Amino acid sequence: MRITDTTHVLVLTGAGISAESGVPTFRDAGGLWEGHDVTEVASPEGFAADPLLVWRFYSQRRAGMQGIEPNTAHRALVDLERRLGDRFLLATQNVDGLHAAAGSERIIEMHGALMRSRCTRCDRPPFADTTAYRAGVAPMCGQCKARGVDALLRPDIVWFGEMLPEGAIAQIEAFVRRAGRNLAFVAIGTSGLVHPAAGLVEAARRVGGTSYLVNLEAPANVTAFDHVVLGPATREVPALFT
Ligand SMILES: NC(=O)c1ccc[n+]([C@@H]2O[C@H](COP(=O)([O-])OP(=O)(O)OC[C@H]3O[C@@H](n4cnc5c(N)ncnc54)[C@H](O)[C@@H]3O)[C@@H](O)[C@H]2O)c1
Ligand SMILES: [Zn+2]
Repeated sequence: MRITDTTHVLVLTGAGISAESGVPTFRDAGGLWEGHDVTEVASPEGFAADPLLVWRFYSQRRAGMQGIEPNTAHRALVDLERRLGDRFLLATQNVDGLHAAAGSERIIEMHGALMRSRCTRCDRPPFADTTAYRAGVAPMCGQCKARGVDALLRPDIVWFGEMLPEGAIAQIEAFVRRAGRNLAFVAIGTSGLVHPAAGLVEAARRVGGTSYLVNLEAPANVTAFDHVVLGPATREVPALFT
């Protein structure tokens, strides 16, 4: 990919970029998470029905991040950001925190963060939390407790049926508008066909930009992207930006 003084790069990453670090993708897990239907463990209804089950699931995922490190694909994005500065933006669907761990700064975490919790009741800001809660103990908000209110904590994850964080989409759209025909939209490790990747490909096309997909397998509709690179992210992402 040719990068000039005006090139703006918008990257969208999905679970595939972290796969080689050892974080399973949804599909690796057979479409089930720990034997559960996703709606049981990743929806507000599931949490209301069984908060302990949901916390057990996210506690296992937190514990599973032990010893997991960013890979060369995450690091290539850090290098690219250092070259481009404000002409770079990284939107990620991942919740694993590996982009930040690698050193990326201009990140929009569209689906929240595994290692953060928030209160279901009060508006204290989400806070860093690596705790894998013990089975049978649902974590409660200490600040609400101090006011005599019992309120559950929840993972700071965007569940199915929930809104994306305020401003996330607006920030991405503003970047696309500012970039115009200098935009290179690069989707990595995400099936390019569903929202938001599909929408961003279209947005890039509308402003006259160029789109790239780096993924292990070809999407059903290869023609949606101007350029498709098939292969593992750790090999293809560093190669794309050299
Ligand atoms: N690491 C994480 O934080 C994590 C892990 C699992 C799921 N999730 C989230 O759950 C939702 C659904 O997850 P999903 O797994 O279906 O994600 P997805 O739809 O983003 O699919 C993963 C894609 O990555 C590709 N892929 C797998 N290994 C790859 C590699 N080494 N190099 C390049 N591409 C590779 C697969 O072909 C697949 O198309 C998304 O929001 C996802 O981000 C996040
Ligand atoms: Zn609270």
